[in-house]
Amino acid sequence: MEIGKVKLKNELVLAPMAGVNSLPFRLLCREAGAGLVSTAMVDVQGFLAKPEVFGQFLKEEAPLSIQLVTPDAKLAGAVAKKLERSCQLIDLNFGCPAGSATNTGRGAALLKDVGKVGEIVKSVSEAVKVPVTAKIRLGWKKIDAVEIGKACEKNGAAAVAVHARLFGEGYGIKSRWGEIKKVKDALSVPVIGNGDVWTGADAKRLLEATGCDGVMVGRAAVGDPDIFHRILHYFRTGEELALPSGKEKLEMFLKLLGLYRKHSLKERLGEVKKQAIWFSKGLVGGAEFRRRVSPLRSVEDVEALVNRTAQGAMN
Ligand SMILES: Cc1cc2nc3c(=O)[nH]c(=O)nc-3n(C[C@H](O)[C@H](O)[C@H](O)COP(=O)(O)O)c2cc1C
Repeated sequence: MEIGKVKLKNELVLAPMAGVNSLPFRLLCREAGAGLVSTAMVDVQGFLAKPEVFGQFLKEEAPLSIQLVTPDAKLAGAVAKKLERSCQLIDLNFGCPAGSATNTGRGAALLKDVGKVGEIVKSVSEAVKVPVTAKIRLGWKKIDAVEIGKACEKNGAAAVAVHARLFGEGYGIKSRWGEIKKVKDALSVPVIGNGDVWTGADAKRLLEATGCDGVMVGRAAVGDPDIFHRILHYFRTGEELALPSGKEKLEMFLKLLGLYRKHSLKERLGEVKKQAIWFSKGLVGGAEFRRRVSPLRSVEDVEALVNRTAQGAMN
């Protein structure tokens, strides 16, 4: 897939995920084969006040997309300009449904105002040289995805990612891939389909059902970056690889810890513990492991617990 002048080595994209997509996690997803990784959403006002909260962005992550969230078109352009040297793409969030975002007019709240979406895309596209992309939901209360997608394209978006749910729809409702196809059919820029891809077969079906150019994977990668390797293997061979065993996932987690250490992020204990909990999903004795992680006071303690657990993991 090619987004503007940025050539990706495949069509797999790590979805932006707040609280999940730390630098070490993004590096593991790249290593597992993701063609593009994204940061969690970066609130532009928060970034201006405390940039260090949002972590580092490294050359070795490239291609990296930094996602911005704001209703302020001018500020979006200014922050995008500050960040463009740290990434290959700037993405704009028009989909976050959390009250903390929509109550202040950010994220999915923007789906109510197509003109405003266009304004933000235009401001950022004019401010930076890197390609600008938009990540949208289907609409606020009704499906407006084609109109919103067209507004993005018209105002300079080099690609549009579609998470095929309305603002108020949770994961209990299936991602409506048919609506992704409508956006794909209406736009000339690449369209990236998103929602409910858990396996190689899912990814292939999404590509075939919608004709879209890329596949964005979110929850399936949480605690399991190897999903990208499995999907690519499926694309090549038609064979669905087995899920990693609990022991393999703990080994992957130790690798993640090594990256936290390498990039001097050991102080991010809360983040490390959350990752430990996600990586322990499916582990025999996982509930006990998770109970023991919570009270730990240092990354070294987490590492020691993981090492002990990995030695005993029989699955
Ligand atoms: C923990 C979590 C955090 C998320 N944070 C963001 C975010 O920062 N920006 C965004 O555009 N979408 C965010 N999303 C939505 C995902 O990017 C994606 O659109 C959604 O999970 C559907 O894809 P999936 O079915 O592959 O998970 C988040 C999802 C999860 C589970």
